[in-house]
Amino acid sequence: MRNFDEHNITSAVLERLEPTASPRVREVSEALVRHLHDFLREIEPTFEEWEAGIEFLTGVGHKCTSSRQEFILLSDTLGASMLVDAINHRLPEGATETTVLGPFFVASAPDAELGADISGGKAGEPLFIEARVSDAEGRPLAGAAVDVWHSDKDGYYDVQHYDEGGEMSLRARFRTNESGRVWLWTIVPSFYPIPNDGPVGDMLRAQGRHPYRPAHVHFMIAAPGYETLVTHIFIDGDKYLDSDVVFGVKDSLVRKLERRAAGTEAGGRVIDHPYAVMRYDFALAPRLAK
Ligand code: BEZ
Ligand code: FE
Repeated sequence: MRNFDEHNITSAVLERLEPTASPRVREVSEALVRHLHDFLREIEPTFEEWEAGIEFLTGVGHKCTSSRQEFILLSDTLGASMLVDAINHRLPEGATETTVLGPFFVASAPDAELGADISGGKAGEPLFIEARVSDAEGRPLAGAAVDVWHSDKDGYYDVQHYDEGGEMSLRARFRTNESGRVWLWTIVPSFYPIPNDGPVGDMLRAQGRHPYRPAHVHFMIAAPGYETLVTHIFIDGDKYLDSDVVFGVKDSLVRKLERRAAGTEAGGRVIDHPYAVMRYDFALAPRLAK
C-alpha cells in the first residue's frame, strides 16, 4: 500500500502491526499508534513545534542519571504516575490508600529500634510518630517492615545533601511489635519543590504551575502475604494540599498534628520539651494473586 494521507495512514500502520507475536505488545502498540495519530490530528503541529517536542523528550533523557529520573518526574507531573497507581490499587474496603513512591526512597535505609530518633541531630520541631499496622479487618500485623522517610524543616531530603558530604538521616526501617505498633522521634517536615532545574521544571513554568508538594512523611510497609503499602501521611493545614504538583493527596491520608506541652508522656517516658504528634492506623490489603 502507498499514497498515505492524513486520514488513511493510521489504518496502514495498524495493519503493519498484525504480525506482532505477543497479544499484549500488539494491544499496547495499536493503542499507542491510534492515540498518537489522533493527538497529532488534534494539535496539527508545525515542523518547529514537532522538533521542539522531540528536543524536550531528548532533554528529559539527557537529564537522567543514576540518581535523577526525569522521566518519572514527567510521569508524576502529568498525573500519569497516580493514574497507574489508581489502576493497580483497586483496594478492598478498609485498606489504607496509596500514593506515589517518589525519587527519594533508599532501599538500604538503616534498621532502627522502636522509639529511635531518626533526626540525625537536624534542627526542627520535634515530632513523635505513632502508628499501628493491621490487616484490612483490623487484626494487628506483628513484625511488619515499616520504612519511614521525609524532608527536613527546609524541605530537603538527606540524599539532596550527599554531594556536600551529608549523611543518611530522616529515614529508617522499623519493625512493628506484637501489637502491630511502631513509634519514633523525628522533626516536622516542610513542603518542598520537586527537582525543577531540568526540562520538567521548564515545562511546569511554561504551564504556569508551581513545583511544590505539601509537607508529608513517606511510609512503605511490607508484611508477608500482603500487598506492600506505599503511601504518605500529609500534614493538615499545608497550603499546597489542594495543588500538589504530582496529584498525590487523598483526604484519607491527611492528619492534623497534635501539639503537646513539655511534661507530657510519649513512647513510655515524660518529655521535657514541647513536641508535635502524628498518629495513623495503617491497614494492608491481602496480596493479590498474580
Ligand atoms: C516525593 O514525595 O518525595 C516526590 C514524589 C514525586 C516527585 C518528586 C518527589
Ligand atoms: Fe516526599
